[in-house]
Amino acid sequence: MSTDDPTGPRSGDQSRLRFDDAPERFREGHKSDQFSGASGVLFEQAMAQTRMAICLVDPKQDDLPIVFANRAFRRLTGYAEEEIIGRNCRFLQGPDTEQEPIERIREAIANEEVIVVDLLNYRRDGSSFWNALHLGPIYNDAGELIYFFGSQWDVSDVRAARAEERYAKEMARELSHRMKNMFAVISGIVNVTGRVRGIQDETAEINARIQALGRAYETTLDDASSGSIEIGPAIRSVLAPYNEDDDRLRLVGNGVRMPFAMVSIVGLILHELAANATKYGAWSQEGGVVHVQWQVIDGMKELSVLWEETGGPDIDRDAINPGTGTAIVDRLLRSAGGTIEREWNESSFKAVIGVPL
Ligand code: FNR
Repeated sequence: MSTDDPTGPRSGDQSRLRFDDAPERFREGHKSDQFSGASGVLFEQAMAQTRMAICLVDPKQDDLPIVFANRAFRRLTGYAEEEIIGRNCRFLQGPDTEQEPIERIREAIANEEVIVVDLLNYRRDGSSFWNALHLGPIYNDAGELIYFFGSQWDVSDVRAARAEERYAKEMARELSHRMKNMFAVISGIVNVTGRVRGIQDETAEINARIQALGRAYETTLDDASSGSIEIGPAIRSVLAPYNEDDDRLRLVGNGVRMPFAMVSIVGLILHELAANATKYGAWSQEGGVVHVQWQVIDGMKELSVLWEETGGPDIDRDAINPGTGTAIVDRLLRSAGGTIEREWNESSFKAVIGVPL
């Protein structure tokens, strides 16, 4: 007879676990199986104390009946010892248990192999749990198969967490798809409006901004569910169309992250700087290069982006006439509490942008 209440609490109560006498009784009844002496005492204590559900089944008897189940097994399943001993472990299976893992188990048993599988099992009260089952053969010194050993672990929580993560990723993919569509539609509307009104040049400029925004978001949605995104891929994506010749854009930065809300600001600012470099700066002539370097500074409170152009045309500082792009950058930064410092030196231009995170 078992001495425990299988329906009792499942949390590990070491003082009660010590009173599990099933291992001792099992050892008494199986002396010939080398469960005697010091190793037998160890077996007894380990089986009684572990929170891992464990059972042994007898391969010499018909249909592999369970000959031993420790207290953790009884707690996990809710069955009393007398309801377990003598039965095949399949009594834990139920209507939603899949056949595939069962077939794998059958094959492993036939080949006397070790196997680890997750399968849905049912407790005595009808509730189900995901059982990470580990089973394998046990041989005696003569090399004869004497038992199959099984250990069961409830991994329902782990699987639920994994499913949640998968769901979040699927949602992000769907959102990314819809966002791309949305940017394409907006772009289309702007194009048509430009054509109908005869203001193609202006709308082309607006469209370039919309597309830069779209690219900035595109790379970020996969990990948007975490609330922050990696800066590097967003910067690379915004600037990708300007980097037709691989050598003219040099990016330096590590995997720092920024809040999702910063994507538009950083994306649009880089787009304006890139458009400017193409029209008037380093990218307007052969050999000009743009270096972009980013880092999070001030105890992770500020994103600092250094934009440096070299090899561009000589700049006549007096002729610099701030256009719409400059106005947009300044306005965005002002609203975000950020800063920009611009510096012109002959054939180079440098901007240091600070955005609070
Ligand atoms: C099992 N089996 C098993 N099955 C299950 O659903 N939950 C479990 O915890 C266990 N534990 C277990 C331990 C050990 C030691 C063995 C040998 C097997 C598998 C089950 O008993 C049976 O082998 C499989 O269902 C495949 O055989 P059938 O049902 O197709 O005959």
